[in-house]
Amino acid sequence: MVAQILDGLKLAKKIQKKIKKIICKRKKNNLIIPGLAIILIGNNTSSKIYIKNKKIACNKVGFLSKIYKFSEKINKKKIISIIKKLNNNKLIHGILIQLPLPNKITTLEISKKISYKKDVDGFHPLNMGLLCQRNPNIRSCTPLGIINLLKEYKIKIKGMNALIIGASNIVGRPMMLELLLAGCTTTITHRFTKNLYEYVKKADLIIIAIGKPNFLHGKWIKKGAIIIDVGINRLENGKIVGDVNFKSMYKKASYITPVPGGVGPMTITSLLQNTLYSFKKYQKK
Ligand code: GUN
Repeated sequence: MVAQILDGLKLAKKIQKKIKKIICKRKKNNLIIPGLAIILIGNNTSSKIYIKNKKIACNKVGFLSKIYKFSEKINKKKIISIIKKLNNNKLIHGILIQLPLPNKITTLEISKKISYKKDVDGFHPLNMGLLCQRNPNIRSCTPLGIINLLKEYKIKIKGMNALIIGASNIVGRPMMLELLLAGCTTTITHRFTKNLYEYVKKADLIIIAIGKPNFLHGKWIKKGAIIIDVGINRLENGKIVGDVNFKSMYKKASYITPVPGGVGPMTITSLLQNTLYSFKKYQKK
């Protein structure tokens, strides 16, 4: 048995095509279009690549987008005043601050200043809380992208033993809430977990987001498990690999996401979907 590949790139293109059609129609009719503000603070190399890709995706579907870059020396007050202006800007329907932020700035303090109506990352405590209470509004991009990818392949996850490896605010925690919502029995492990293997071998669905190249080996998993790899790790030779040892996993899993071309393109597509959602739901008509 070999695993079926969950092709995130293919689905991302399909969704983006649909969004582009909607926007083209609006442009033809001289109607307002969705706008996304992308804020980068500091000099993180990966963040610079991510925001560039987000802007390219906006251009592809015809959204308005603007990048705001600031030095890591910027003070909290100034960032908050910029966010307030963007909250009131009628041409902007989504605001995202690329993470991680430089050390001296607290993520929560900043992310809750973005209006929950424009919080296209789904990181605002209100949006996270609504998801927690089974009443989702704007949903975090990576978990939403994964749920949409599983749906596209008609994989029924209700009742599955789902395991999330990595408990970050960006992926692990909102993923836990999404899987609970979808009816999984959900376990989340993290750096203090003892005997990770005991959890791995029982899981029907594993989502790993820890940033450790080739960490999860096929010999650990239950035969036929579904493997979702969120990791994007650049090796010294320049090759991009996930958190999963793909070769060993491919022979034992039922479905697997490739890296690149799996979760990554779905995350960016979720951002576009969220921006369109905010635009449709909250824009003053
Ligand atoms: N850094 C890594 N992933 C993300 C994401 O999904 N959103 C933001 N804002 N920053 C990130």
